[in-house]
Amino acid sequence: MIIMGELDGQRVFLTGAAGGIGRGLAEAFTAAGAVLGAADRVEPRGTAAWARQLDVTDGAAVGAAITAFAAAAGGLDLVVNAAGVISFAPVVELEAAEWRRVLEVNATGTFLVDQAAARHMLAHDIKGSIVNVASISGKVGDPTLAHYAASKFAVIGLTQALARELAPHGITVNALCPGVVATPMIEANLKAWIMTMEQLIAPQAIKRTQTPAEMAQAIMFMHRCRALTGQSISVDGGTYFH
Ligand SMILES: NC(=O)c1ccc[n+]([C@@H]2O[C@H](COP(=O)([O-])OP(=O)(O)OC[C@H]3O[C@@H](n4cnc5c(N)ncnc54)[C@H](O)[C@@H]3O)[C@@H](O)[C@H]2O)c1
Repeated sequence: MIIMGELDGQRVFLTGAAGGIGRGLAEAFTAAGAVLGAADRVEPRGTAAWARQLDVTDGAAVGAAITAFAAAAGGLDLVVNAAGVISFAPVVELEAAEWRRVLEVNATGTFLVDQAAARHMLAHDIKGSIVNVASISGKVGDPTLAHYAASKFAVIGLTQALARELAPHGITVNALCPGVVATPMIEANLKAWIMTMEQLIAPQAIKRTQTPAEMAQAIMFMHRCRALTGQSISVDGGTYFH
């Protein structure tokens, strides 16, 4: 359930907005009253009045997009990183180029968006929030996911370091760790692992997929609770209790 007005007037910049989770976040944030800036490598049409094509690995473009959105919206309160990529390979077959690609988007891309967000918030004395979408793969590594797990562990480390660095300025930084949300990324997962959805959710206490709206609820809580920082919260139906 989305609480109407929970983000009333809040200026929210979202990456990965054309993706499965991102589209759902865009819808939920808008329903909660946010002024939304939507960005994705694929232009996120129909997600927000302010929507732009953006590659998160291009630092200059990321900085320009955050500045442009904040100017158009009259400020910046919350930045959410939901852009990401996944692939699968046994470590003996994993190409170094693929390792670098996944680290580049998931870890470096998140760093560049966080850096641009921090620069803007510090320059304008904004006591805002940053939420990085990591994964339960950022807490426990699984077979064929060495590169993806390494990238998500990096996101959690980045989140913790920035939480300490930016806390004196009133900025909170947290990570969301989704479990299984039915999106194109998970469909690729099922094909690559030759698994059924039932097998994928078997380790969960609550045996169903999570929804983008449930991801949005957790992000809105992280934004609202000003004592919460440096946390990586699993919204995974009770797969891991940490
Ligand atoms: N779906 C899940 O169950 C699940 C579980 C854990 C973590 N996650 C994480 O949630 C986030 C969203 O995943 P999803 O399931 O919606 O995947 P998705 O593939 O549906 O969406 C990912 C989006 O990121 C965008 N993107 C990729 N590279 C980009 C780049 N360089 N610049 C800008 N945008 C780029 C894609 O265009 C796509 O729209 C990812 O970070 C993913 O790792 C998802």
